[in-house]
Amino acid sequence: MATEQRTQSPHAVGALFDRFATSYDAGRRKLIPNLEAFYGTAVEVATLELPTARPPRVLDIGAGTGLLTALIAGARPDAELTLLDASPAMLEHAPDRLGDAWARCTAIVGDALTALPDGPFDAVVSALAVHHLDDNAKQRLYGAIFDRLNPGGVFVNAEQVAGPTPELDRRYGERWLEHTAELGATPEDHAEAAVRMSMDLPAPVEVQCEWLRAAGFRNVDCFFKSWRFAVFGGWR
Ligand SMILES: C[S@@+](CC[C@H](N)C(=O)[O-])C[C@H]1O[C@@H](n2cnc3c(N)ncnc32)[C@H](O)[C@@H]1O
Repeated sequence: MATEQRTQSPHAVGALFDRFATSYDAGRRKLIPNLEAFYGTAVEVATLELPTARPPRVLDIGAGTGLLTALIAGARPDAELTLLDASPAMLEHAPDRLGDAWARCTAIVGDALTALPDGPFDAVVSALAVHHLDDNAKQRLYGAIFDRLNPGGVFVNAEQVAGPTPELDRRYGERWLEHTAELGATPEDHAEAAVRMSMDLPAPVEVQCEWLRAAGFRNVDCFFKSWRFAVFGGWR
């Protein structure tokens, strides 16, 4: 299936999120319908088969202010966590959110493709970040993640995805505006989100699952989906 081929500079995306770092967290509950199920499913899949005999090593790509990282830390308090993000201003909020767990965290400011740490990791997770990469870069990233996972390791991506057809993609956008208005998002919230979303390059979930299979992942599945929000991944 063909998806739009635009490219995005990681520096531009990092700078964009630097601008919104202070207001980012306050808007989450209004702008992500079914937030608990979305992030909760990602945590459930990520922690399902982690080793228990030693602290598991987890990498969060596009960790931002540490929302998903903190949920993983809550589920596995012994985890050694690496947060990677292109925006230093977003990462600056992570220590407060992680609290005591920050002692087990390593933060890396850098691009997902060029600054990916070697690992190996037991889980690689990401939320709402990979859709900033163009489709070729997404596929290269999925291959690089596979290479950095231990055998049996898991990759989970909690993402904004494109509709499989232009008509459904339009519906996704309409439903997002309606759902978020019901959650209390104001026209100003929508306007601020629209600036961030102007850099989005989402791809359909089925296409991305195929890319994961092509990268070598097994048991690839979409574990949660509600319109534009999907949690998908697989195991090495
Ligand atoms: C919408 S925020 C999501 C943050 C966090 N994962 C969450 O769920 O709240 C997207 C984050 O991805 C980061 N990001 C986008 N493209 C990136 C790239 N190529 N390399 C590293 N980080 C990137 C942005 O800087 C931003 O902090």
